[in-house]
Amino acid sequence: MTKEATDPITRIAELRGQIAHHNLAYHQQDKPEIPDAEYDLLVRELTALEEAHPELAVPDSPTGQVGAPPSATFAPVQHSVPMQSLDNSFDNDELTAWTGRVARGLEVDEGTAIGYMCELKIDGIALSLRYENGRLVQGATRGNGRVGEDITANIRTVSVIPQQLPAGAPEVVEVRGEVYLPVAKFNALNEAQEAAGLPRYANPRNTAAGSLRQKDPTITASRGLAFWAYQLGQVTGGPKLNTHEEALNWLERLGLPVNPERRRVQSIPEMIDFTTQWHERRHDLDYEIDGAVIKVDSLAQQRQLGSTSRAPRWAMAYKLPPEERTTKLLDIHVSIGRTGKATPFAVLEPIFVGGSTVQIATLHNDDQVRIKDVRPGDTVIVRKAGDVIPEVLGPVLAERPEGLAPWEFPTHCPSCSQPLERPPDEAHTFCVNPVCPSRQQSQIEYFAGRGAMDIEGMGEMVVARFIQEELITDVGDIYSIDWDKVGQLDRFGETTVQNLRAAVDASRQRPLASLLIGLGIRHFGPSGAELLASHFGNLDAIAAASADEIAAIDGVGPVIAQSVADYFASGSAQDLVKKFKKGELNLQGPKKADVPQVLAGLAIVVTGTLEGFSRDSAAEAIKSRGGKNPGSVSKKTAAVVIGENPGASKLGKAEDLEVPMIDEAAFVRLLQTGEIETGEAERDRQ
Ligand code: IVH
Repeated sequence: MTKEATDPITRIAELRGQIAHHNLAYHQQDKPEIPDAEYDLLVRELTALEEAHPELAVPDSPTGQVGAPPSATFAPVQHSVPMQSLDNSFDNDELTAWTGRVARGLEVDEGTAIGYMCELKIDGIALSLRYENGRLVQGATRGNGRVGEDITANIRTVSVIPQQLPAGAPEVVEVRGEVYLPVAKFNALNEAQEAAGLPRYANPRNTAAGSLRQKDPTITASRGLAFWAYQLGQVTGGPKLNTHEEALNWLERLGLPVNPERRRVQSIPEMIDFTTQWHERRHDLDYEIDGAVIKVDSLAQQRQLGSTSRAPRWAMAYKLPPEERTTKLLDIHVSIGRTGKATPFAVLEPIFVGGSTVQIATLHNDDQVRIKDVRPGDTVIVRKAGDVIPEVLGPVLAERPEGLAPWEFPTHCPSCSQPLERPPDEAHTFCVNPVCPSRQQSQIEYFAGRGAMDIEGMGEMVVARFIQEELITDVGDIYSIDWDKVGQLDRFGETTVQNLRAAVDASRQRPLASLLIGLGIRHFGPSGAELLASHFGNLDAIAAASADEIAAIDGVGPVIAQSVADYFASGSAQDLVKKFKKGELNLQGPKKADVPQVLAGLAIVVTGTLEGFSRDSAAEAIKSRGGKNPGSVSKKTAAVVIGENPGASKLGKAEDLEVPMIDEAAFVRLLQTGEIETGEAERDRQ
């Protein structure tokens, strides 16, 4: 679904869902799926939409939240002082604009010197340490900012964190800071992994997070985690502190590690000098930073500025741009994805960038390779935006060896040797052979993957082996695997087989939308799958629907509709549906009741043009909540929604029959609550 094609309600819901999903992936599963920069864009888009549509704001929107809800593995800890997040700025102009807001908030004239502390933004895991009468009694993660996880046993193994503070420590002091894994420890850990034939860890931050969440503290202890303290939480007793700088110095005297790279500044140029310096020096450190944090120094001024529900107004993060490095482009290979898409990717001389070692990076498609003009043998600039996706920006032409030939996109599939095709007006090239082994392999992996049927253990190696042993040829075969035969394969012991079989069984009950996603239909993603599953209610109805019927669903465009209809028209899709039925998979969509039926039995008439809804999407929104959307006003009409240029007859009838008339904003609230708000005129009449 594209941004442009959706109404604000749908887009806001979609963004909230996506952000919540990425929050979980990042904060709880330590497995981010998109770069930080992309996540920041989602949050920015949602914030802008919520600002433009305040009637759609809800208290639990991710724009007002910090992190992810605590997991069930560790006991919950209620933070006595919430652990907030920080607002972000991405350049010095945004930082300067913030200092303007600070000056206005403090009601001081522009040009009045305000003291700020500049610190490094450590790329680790936020931690709260609680000391009572000098003894460390608790270590907790941030969780959702109000409730975190009790990881005391693991924290006690971090050697730089004192168990006991010196004499004279206050009754209670909570220390907030960042646990991190030094880069040297991270590299050593990865070397050990490699030596043991185990997969490498992605980056120090996720490894630190994983290390903290170990059930067995001895594993945490073995990792060599470290800690920087940067903030106070609850303090009962202790010296009178006037500034943040004094607080940090006091923490240092208490024996806590406080980062020495901090600086008090009194002007914007000094602040910019700090951020600029750390652009260049980030690699001089033995730990990863993702920016700087600037804090108003005076604690009285901090109190005056206060906080929003998510972040203090007295602090601002300055995010460093994604990192760039140069390395050698050894070769360009082409991989064949589940839809047959042939994607060129760069094979690089390994390079440590953005917190991990990069060896391959996508080049997207033929045009991109041409536009970037990267050639095997070039020195190229590599960027790793956030944690996940490395990118080749372009060649360093000054270093290009003479006579280096441009790279040519292959004419035949590297997997099945069939000719590759590039459809007109398409940026991508495809292998159109439906039985291409690479396509089948990636299709099955995708189907079994986390985003779809989530069959644990059915990863790349297992799928490759099952295909090789002719146990499966397509995703439908997963549900008739001959497990006795699997048990006879080497490296498939009894427990492995049992676990795999249980995972396959569990997947039979996944929601229909997950199954639809798993089919890997071109152009068709999770939001389309949800819409189809709830609209048609079962797989047979979806498979039988025409492109027009599918396109009639609000939020599903004609390209997606055609793609879905074409997919189910194919013989191989029909075979799959048969296999799914035989395998007793859940092929039913969510019950209508899953959408709160707040309009059950109510007839809502819409007249005139609404900003956020087409005629069809307004009708769909009403009906999906149990309401009716008749074309004319009668005694039975519960409310008439009045848009731009309403129909005179509907208006007149509504007035005659004293049917409540509501505007679009009230309609939006009606969809959420089922309550019809009567306007002033209405109330006067009653
Ligand atoms: S202060 C109320 N200072 O960045 C202010 N946070 O993106 C609390 N972080 O949640 C945060 N280095 O986990 C602060 N020097 C620093 C930091 C820092 C890293 C983390 C922290 C925070 C996150 C926001």
